[in-house]
Amino acid sequence: MGLKDLLKNKLTKKELSLVPTSFDIIGNREKAVAIIEIPEKLQKKSRIIANALMKQHRNVKSVLEKSSPRKGIYRTRDYGFIKGDKNTEIMHVENGCRLLLDPQKVYFSPREGTERQRIVQQVSKKEIVMVFFAGAGPFAIVIAKKSKPKRVIGIELSEAAIDYFWKNVKLNKLENVDVVHGNVKQKARDYYGKCDRVIMPLPETAIDYLEDAAKCLKKKGVIHLYFFSEEEKIAEWKRKARKMLGKGKKHIVQARKVLPYGPRINKYRMDIEVG
Ligand SMILES: C[S@@+](CC[C@H](N)C(=O)[O-])C[C@H]1O[C@@H](n2cnc3c(N)ncnc32)[C@H](O)[C@@H]1O
Repeated sequence: MGLKDLLKNKLTKKELSLVPTSFDIIGNREKAVAIIEIPEKLQKKSRIIANALMKQHRNVKSVLEKSSPRKGIYRTRDYGFIKGDKNTEIMHVENGCRLLLDPQKVYFSPREGTERQRIVQQVSKKEIVMVFFAGAGPFAIVIAKKSKPKRVIGIELSEAAIDYFWKNVKLNKLENVDVVHGNVKQKARDYYGKCDRVIMPLPETAIDYLEDAAKCLKKKGVIHLYFFSEEEKIAEWKRKARKMLGKGKKHIVQARKVLPYGPRINKYRMDIEVG
C-alpha cells in the first residue's frame, strides 16, 4: 500500500495532495532512516505522516525532515527529528558493500548508487584510482570492492566523514584503499603523476580543483568531474574545462546527465580523457 493510501483516513483531500511522493530511505532491512521533505502546509501533520511511513516500511526506525538545503564545505544539511530512534547511525547496503554512516553528520545520497555503479563498470584491475571529496567513502568502497583495482585513494576533509570512511574500509575488509584526511588542495600533491583516474564528486565547486586532478594523472588518464547545470550551459562548462587544462595534452571531453537536481537544473558528469 502506498503512503497516500495509508493516510487516506487521516488527512483531508487537499492535505493528501501535498504529501510527498518520493523520499530517501538509507539503511538496511533491519534498520533504516527515512528522510522526507514536508511542505509548510503539512507541518502539523508531520508525525502522522511519519507514522504511516514507518508502517509502510517496517525497517524504518527514524524519520527525519529536511530543514535546510545542503550547505557549507561539508555539504551537510539540517534535519528536524520527527519520530523514532534518535540514534540515526545506519549501515546502508549498496551493491554488496556495507556503508556505515549517520546522514545527520555526513553527506550521503542513496540516489547516487546507480551512478557509482556506472563508474565501477569503467574501472579496470590495473588502475590506481583517486577519489577527491571522498565523504564516508561510497565511491572508494564500491570501486575497491567491485572493480578490484590496484589501489583506491580517497581524500576527505570532514572529520566525521573520514572516521566513517576508515570504518567502512575495515567493515568491507579492503586492503587496496588509502584513506587520506585533509584538503584536496594540499593532499593531492602527494599523488601527482600516479593515478589513472580521478573522480570529483563535489558538483558545486569541483571545477576549481580540475588542475589538481589533471596533475594527479599519469601521462594518460580519465577525470570524472560532476557539476550542476542547465542543459544549455553544458557547452560553456566544457569550454571552461578545456581552457583550464591548457593546450599541452589532447583532451576528449564528454558530458552526460546523472540525475535531475532542481527546476531546469541537472547533475552532470563530465568525462575528460587526457593524453
Ligand atoms: C558532495 S559530498 C560527496 C561525498 C561522497 N563522495 C559521496 O558521494 O557521498 C562532498 C565531500 O567533499 C568534502 N570536501 C569539500 N571540500 C573538500 C576539500 N577541499 N578537500 C577534501 N574534501 C572536501 C566534504 O566534506 C564532503 O564530504
